[in-house]
Amino acid sequence: MAVRHFLDLCDAGADALAAMIDDAQRRKAARADWPRGRADADAPLAGHVLAMVFEKNSTRTRVSFDIAMRQLGGSALVLDSASSQLGRGESIADTARVLSRMCDAIMLRTDDHAKAEEMARHASVPVINGLTDRSHPCQTVADLLTVIEHGKPLPGLELAWFGDGNNVLHSLLEAAGLFRFNVRVATPPGYEPESEFVELARAGGAQVLLTGDAAAAADGADVVVTDTWVSMGQDHAAEKLAAMAPFQVNEALMARAKDDARFLHCLPAHVGDEVSEGVFEGPQSVVFDEAENRIHAQKSVLLWCFGRL
Ligand code: CP
Ligand code: NVA
Repeated sequence: MAVRHFLDLCDAGADALAAMIDDAQRRKAARADWPRGRADADAPLAGHVLAMVFEKNSTRTRVSFDIAMRQLGGSALVLDSASSQLGRGESIADTARVLSRMCDAIMLRTDDHAKAEEMARHASVPVINGLTDRSHPCQTVADLLTVIEHGKPLPGLELAWFGDGNNVLHSLLEAAGLFRFNVRVATPPGYEPESEFVELARAGGAQVLLTGDAAAAADGADVVVTDTWVSMGQDHAAEKLAAMAPFQVNEALMARAKDDARFLHCLPAHVGDEVSEGVFEGPQSVVFDEAENRIHAQKSVLLWCFGRL
């Protein structure tokens, strides 16, 4: 079997992603109330080690991959650029070849997506994208799991995104094409998602609305999603923040969505900017289910990469 990398959702495809979400639900249910560090009964990745390479900060991705590996019976270690030779200029290619001799898989969080592709080209073990400037596929697996758990099937789903057309939105658009759900994207002009992802969604049969009208995007939505207005590595430009203000997810905007709409945010959140406190802390917010689901989703991604799904 060729090495299975997970740099974007298309690497797995719709059938494998559906299998991942099913398996995540099954494993999650089987270990409800167990201590988080205890391995699943079958410990399918016993003896396996994941190297986690961070060139950007992380809380959820770091902890969820570590706990995911423990629950699958394996373990994980962290290299950050500041304290590894990557930070002193050792190449991605050499790092990939060394880690492939010492570990069973590599998770990379970095800026330029080309670095993740370079890692995958030179690694002989699976490489997983733990976020790049371009995409965040692991987040989307957790988001889809969360949406399904909250009783919203994917076909025909109306997902509304507000604010910056960023990496998290790109992966949601990719999922929309794979699962045929519709996405309304409300951004200020100049902050739209990359057209490649819009086209990918449309080519898969999803309807994608790009609009500057936040209210229109929210009308009748099943799921309302936002993210930080300033992603890691971006400037806190005053003009960007001013342009984003009308796209805040607040009570008035949320009231336009369906009564049973859910609010998602990958976190970390900037309450008072992209989301009001009332929505973030309100009954429609499922952001902490979403955060927990990073563990369950990650386990499925890892199992797929190792050919166990
Ligand atoms: N959502 C997410 O990826 O969070 P971290 O940056 O904390 O990993
Ligand atoms: N768009 C954000 C996501 C963080 C999880 C960023 O790239 O910083």
